This record gives sequence, C-alpha cells and structure tokens, in this order.
Amino acid sequence: MKVALIGGTGSFGIALAVRLREAGYAVVIGSRDAQRAAAAAAELGVEGATNDDAARAADLVVLTTKADGAVETARALRDAIGTTPVLSVAAELRFTKDGVLPTDEATSIAQRIQDEIAGPVVAGLHSLAASNLGGEAPPDEDALVCGDDRAAKDAVLELAAHLTTGRAVDCGPLASARALEGMTAVIVNVNKRYRAHAGVRLTGLH
Ligand SMILES: NC(=O)c1ccc[n+]([C@@H]2O[C@H](COP(=O)([O-])OP(=O)(O)OC[C@H]3O[C@@H](n4cnc5c(N)ncnc54)[C@H](OP(=O)(O)O)[C@@H]3O)[C@@H](O)[C@H]2O)c1
Repeated sequence: MKVALIGGTGSFGIALAVRLREAGYAVVIGSRDAQRAAAAAAELGVEGATNDDAARAADLVVLTTKADGAVETARALRDAIGTTPVLSVAAELRFTKDGVLPTDEATSIAQRIQDEIAGPVVAGLHSLAASNLGGEAPPDEDALVCGDDRAAKDAVLELAAHLTTGRAVDCGPLASARALEGMTAVIVNVNKRYRAHAGVRLTGLH
C-alpha cells in the first residue's frame, strides 16, 4: 500500500514516515514545494513529491499539514484525492493564559474535510505526539481511530497497528473525531503540568 503524507515535511509527517517505512509501507512525502519534499524524503530514503502528485499516486492520503491548513489543503487537492481514503490527524488548539483549549468550531476538522472531498475520511492518531512516534522504537500507547466508512477505517486501523506497541482502537463513527481532536488539548495541558510526553492507553479491552 502506498501512503501519501501531505505536508509530510513537518515533525508529525516525518515521525509517521519513519514508522510506516519500518512497517513496509511505500511512503511518499508531500509538500507544497517539490524541493522541500525531495530533501525530507532523501533523508528518510522514501519518495518525495508535490502534495498534488503525492495524493494522485496514493492508496491512502494522510493530511499531515499544519492543522489550520488542513481543510484548505483538502479542498485544493479535491481532484487529486478523488475517491481515495483520507486520514485526518489534525487538531486545532487555542493557546490561552489559562491553558490550551480545543477549538470552538461547531464541527470537527475531519468532518469539514469530509465536506470538501469525495473520498471517505477517517480521523485518528491525534494522541500520538511526534516526539513519541518518531523515537527509537514504537511508543507504548494506543492509537485511536474513528470513521464512517468500514473499508477505509479498517485500512487505517491496520496501518495504526504498526505505529505503537499498544492497540489500534476503533472509536466509532466520524462524529467521534470531535472528541479525539479535543483530546489533544488535554494531552498538551498534561504535558505542561507534569513536564511529560503523555500518550493514551485504554483499559478493559479484550
Ligand atoms: N506534532 C505532533 O506531535 C502531532 C501529534 C498528533 C497530531 N498532529 C497533527 O499533525 C499535523 C502536523 O503537525 P506538525 O506538528 O508536523 O505540523 P507543522 O510542522 O506545523 O506543519 C507540517 C507541514 O505543513 C505544511 N504547512 C504549513 N502551513 C501550511 C498551510 N497553511 N497550508 C498547507 N500546508 C502547510 C508545511 O509543509 P510544506 O511547507 O513542506 O508544504 C509543514 O512542514 C497537524 O494537523 C497536527 O494537529 C501533530
């Protein structure tokens, strides 16, 4: 399976590329700038391309751009994505004097992306910090995933199972993205309070 990391030149895209390459996935790092993509890809020994070319070549498109560019990027890549499944990892954060807050937008980023494109959108991996994900070994935490399209969600769950030593957990429909995206603010606040690199582990699963 070929996975395109749109905006994959950032810390999360690079960390994801490391784990996916290790797991045997064909990875294409995408960027708005072909040279930036080529430079990042060369360091990892994977392919690099413009975001548009990366999306056209992929079996799964992961939107790893800066969160506030994710919806606009999906809109711009609508034709290139076509009916290919898309994974949204984005979470919007508001930094205030009282702490980090989730966005007050009415719908999740994942839902807003789904409103722009034909391919089925799955949301997940929000609780995996790039610093944990891209470490020497896969992190000891779970990867939480949600979506409405069974086949797309199964493909993402299979991919997510390679990223950590924990579980890839199906968290239900795409409507759960609101909660998964919001959890990022919780984790950032925990990290600040405890000077930690926290992840999530669900208990009670068989
Ligand atoms: N960092 C984490 O620990 C973490 C954890 C879980 C989820 N996430 C999510 O993963 C995504 C990427 O996070 P990151 O920390 O890697 O982000 P980042 O480094 O800020 O940005 C990633 C890439 O996005 C592209 N970009 C920047 N502004 C853009 C815009 N306005 N439109 C389109 N592309 C733009 C840039 O690539 P080019 O300039 O090469 O195009 C940049 O290298 C975010 O949605 C974030 O919420 C991050």
